[in-house]
Amino acid sequence: MAKMYEFIDHSHDVVVVGAGGAGLRATLGMAEQGLRTACITKVFPTRSHTVAAQGGIAASLVNMTPDSWQWHMYDTVKGSDWLGDTDAMEYLAREAPKAVYELEHYGVPFSRNEEGKIYQRPFGGHMQNFGDGPPVQRTCAAADRTGHAILHTLYGQSLKHNAEFYIEYFALDLIMSEDGVCQGVIAWNLDDGTIHRFAAKMVVLATGGYGRAYFSCTSAHTCTGDGGGMVARAGLPLQDMEFVQFHPTGIYGSGCLITEGARGEGGYLVNSEGERFMERYAPSAKDLASRDVVSRCMTLEIREGRGVGKNKDHIFLHLDHLDPALLAERLPGISESAKIFAGVDVTKEPIPVLPTVHYNMGGIPTNYWGEVLNADGTNPNRIQPGLMAVGEAGCASVHGANRLGSNSLTDLVVFGRAAAIRAGQVVDPKEAIPTPNAASCEKIMDRFDRLRHASGAIPTADLRDKMQRAMQEDAAVFRTQESLEQGCRRLSQIWGELKDLKVTDRSMIWNSDLVETLELENLMANAITTVYGAEARKESRGAHAREDYKDGPLGGRDDENWRKHTLARVSEAGEVTLDYRPVITEPLTPYEQGGIDPKKIAPKARVY
Ligand code: FUM
Repeated sequence: MAKMYEFIDHSHDVVVVGAGGAGLRATLGMAEQGLRTACITKVFPTRSHTVAAQGGIAASLVNMTPDSWQWHMYDTVKGSDWLGDTDAMEYLAREAPKAVYELEHYGVPFSRNEEGKIYQRPFGGHMQNFGDGPPVQRTCAAADRTGHAILHTLYGQSLKHNAEFYIEYFALDLIMSEDGVCQGVIAWNLDDGTIHRFAAKMVVLATGGYGRAYFSCTSAHTCTGDGGGMVARAGLPLQDMEFVQFHPTGIYGSGCLITEGARGEGGYLVNSEGERFMERYAPSAKDLASRDVVSRCMTLEIREGRGVGKNKDHIFLHLDHLDPALLAERLPGISESAKIFAGVDVTKEPIPVLPTVHYNMGGIPTNYWGEVLNADGTNPNRIQPGLMAVGEAGCASVHGANRLGSNSLTDLVVFGRAAAIRAGQVVDPKEAIPTPNAASCEKIMDRFDRLRHASGAIPTADLRDKMQRAMQEDAAVFRTQESLEQGCRRLSQIWGELKDLKVTDRSMIWNSDLVETLELENLMANAITTVYGAEARKESRGAHAREDYKDGPLGGRDDENWRKHTLARVSEAGEVTLDYRPVITEPLTPYEQGGIDPKKIAPKARVY
């Protein structure tokens, strides 16, 4: 091993990596049960990207309109374009009300309706009556700062239950035993340069998405797919990476998010002719169609010359017809963002917007308890010992090919909570904590040292820029065989160039050059599996819209051959190998016992 590194050792029942909504909900749930729990996070917990979640959290509370968990489940199945796992989608919809009431009791300051109940707003793709409509008010909101409210509450509660936080620690890699059990994680304390070895019976990856693999995204600069990178280096697969969500309303230029809640409160999109074009494409749901649909319609309007602005390259979102008092009460955050990032007073002018990368449906494959799956030849649902993944880093798979807006916060708290429940069953506090495998630790530190002393010719920022531009151009809203083949070629070439990186700062304390290099390697594992998975998938489904597969009754979707999950592994040399795993089509609750009618969720064309 690179000899100059000494470990500071820690032992815990559970180590959670990441302190966003999922990480904190898991940490809190573990600590509440008396498990010795550590949470490692590269940013201060309340600065995690969940803080930026605006519009709300979906749960069928029935505070504003009729609703049921079965309707919520139906919308999620349809939103996923029939790629989600049915057991996980049922679990999400069924457990969501409980998870939201728990948040309320923990102290989340939700907005209130006239009766003093939690306020709920309409959101894209959420409908009454098994999709027949009208839109349902299902999205529970704290103004347009719902993630902020949740994150602060969960952090406070976790501290109250004595979870131990290791803040501004960068997780380098998973410690794996000779026989493939995860035994902990090694992390670098950015503040004082020390290296920490965390031995644990269970590691929970809650590291968020990898939006920063793209040039323009709504995600924070910290969203670098660190969990996906660690999993890939451990030789484990990533699932359904080709499904990348574009949010319809990123602010033109900055990419900053304007919540779908803006359309939920009555906002609408127009083209250069002043036309509310969504009425033409989605006559029933209109501006509240699912976000993959709205993003594609906006892109088509721009392509056909009906974009707005000097270059006709974006769309207008109108809120100026809404009561200024409503804007101040329900949408204060985006009113401020529009002013700062677009120079627009939302009470008077439309906001210039453009579809912007927002969310990764794919990630580390798990069951609905958050246990990581490592398929082998005989068992596609084999559980990887010692490892869980939750939140955007994981793929339960509840969003399938496309996530519905406001199902992300639901995912974070429902599956963060589920992971804690499961850990309570499978982690025995009396059992000995594993002794970390020395060879695995040595390998981790050798890689760290190699990157720290990288003395090639390419600055990290330059290679990152190259990756982001390739992803933006080749794995965009619309894709073709040609664009995806080009994406594979470019990403493979960039992978080769990782060997030639130049890190100029060799220090151990607040070395942001090295942090960004570690993040770039993580991003690359996510990016390369995205383009290879997308090139191989010869159909259109959800966010994976291929112009060369758009005909037929299902609009290019091919259930016979492609209703299956992609599993992608990437070797050290950057070779991607693909495999597939069947979609789980059985719900948890039989129809006779109150479950959803299986006929309702049988695959069909997806129209809004
Ligand atoms: O539009 C929004 O507020 C985003 C919500 C989400 O991605 O769930």
